Amino acid sequence: MSTDTTRAPLSESLMPTLGGRWYTDPEIFAREQERIFEQMWFCAVRAADLDAPGRFQTVQVGRESILVTRTRKGAIKAFFNVCRHRGVQLCTEESGTHRRNIQCMYHAWTYDLDGKLVAAPNLTKMPDVGREEYGLRAVHVREWLGYVWLCLAEEPPSFEADVEGAVVERLGDLGLIDAYGVETLGLGRRITYDVKANWKLIIENFMECYHCATIHPELTEVLPEFADGYAAQYFVGHGAEFGADVQGFTVDGSEGFDRIATISEDQDRRYYAITVKPTVFINLVPDHVIVHRMFPTAHDRTTVVCDWLYTRDVVEQGRDVERSVELFHRVNEQDFDACERCQPGMSSRVYRDGGVLVPSEHHIGAFHAWVEQRLA
Ligand code: FES
Ligand SMILES: [Fe+2]
Repeated sequence: MSTDTTRAPLSESLMPTLGGRWYTDPEIFAREQERIFEQMWFCAVRAADLDAPGRFQTVQVGRESILVTRTRKGAIKAFFNVCRHRGVQLCTEESGTHRRNIQCMYHAWTYDLDGKLVAAPNLTKMPDVGREEYGLRAVHVREWLGYVWLCLAEEPPSFEADVEGAVVERLGDLGLIDAYGVETLGLGRRITYDVKANWKLIIENFMECYHCATIHPELTEVLPEFADGYAAQYFVGHGAEFGADVQGFTVDGSEGFDRIATISEDQDRRYYAITVKPTVFINLVPDHVIVHRMFPTAHDRTTVVCDWLYTRDVVEQGRDVERSVELFHRVNEQDFDACERCQPGMSSRVYRDGGVLVPSEHHIGAFHAWVEQRLA
């Protein structure tokens, strides 16, 4: 693919962005599906949502529908959602429960929850049909932070380098995120946003805080240093500090919940943000963790699922998470509104060669170079 930008700075202050067509061209999006979402580790499902044997979810990963299920033995497996006989899509629901097996609606080929072909009409008269060989095609699965990460590549890249590595790059070491015990937390709230913008606009937005003073009044009240325009992601290991009179990470700075018992003194009263390419944002605050999963559906459309995770105590006692959720829900709406306002501009003739990044956004240039390189 020819590149229409160069990563060379335009001046001391300004670096070029990607050109407009990177956000508007369905062919580029198709290549991103093939080279990025179908090759990398993709955060698909919250493991606790598959809370009993037979529970399943179907998720779109790149151009493929993937069936993620909990097996009898309690493991999580994922398969291409395609019958091995004549290709019917096995599950059309977003989620549900298979009582015992997965049966195709067309000619009743039947697979167990481990994907093995266990029955089909007249199967016994076809002894040459291998039940493993004609089982569902599996997808690589890893569980981390309480989420199920899938990789559709035959040979998956290193999970440690790509996924955990992104956290290490941002925080300095894995111990800092381990301290939050994310996989032990419970779901306090989930909000799904339908964003009419290219997925890269959402990533770029999350990576910078130049916009914070303009569009995030509540967030900059809680994290005053964000008003200077330097995102937490700008500095390795840095967590933005709460304002002196702020009691908690809530919409009005009022008190939150007890801090997660295992975090360190240094992590108290701080906000850390991490981008795990290609589609995940993780936000750490003392009393909860917010995880964004993106599902890019078209060159100009992205579904974002945002989970607010709290300690079991908070969730099980039914504590009121409203003020806590409201802060980042507003941030999400403010951000996604800005991204939706960017999207039409990407098609303008004046944005054909792109825009510019100011110094506090220069690290986004590395993201652009990464995208170009993946598609090259
Ligand atoms: S297509 Fe599934 S059994 Fe025929
Ligand atoms: Fe923002």
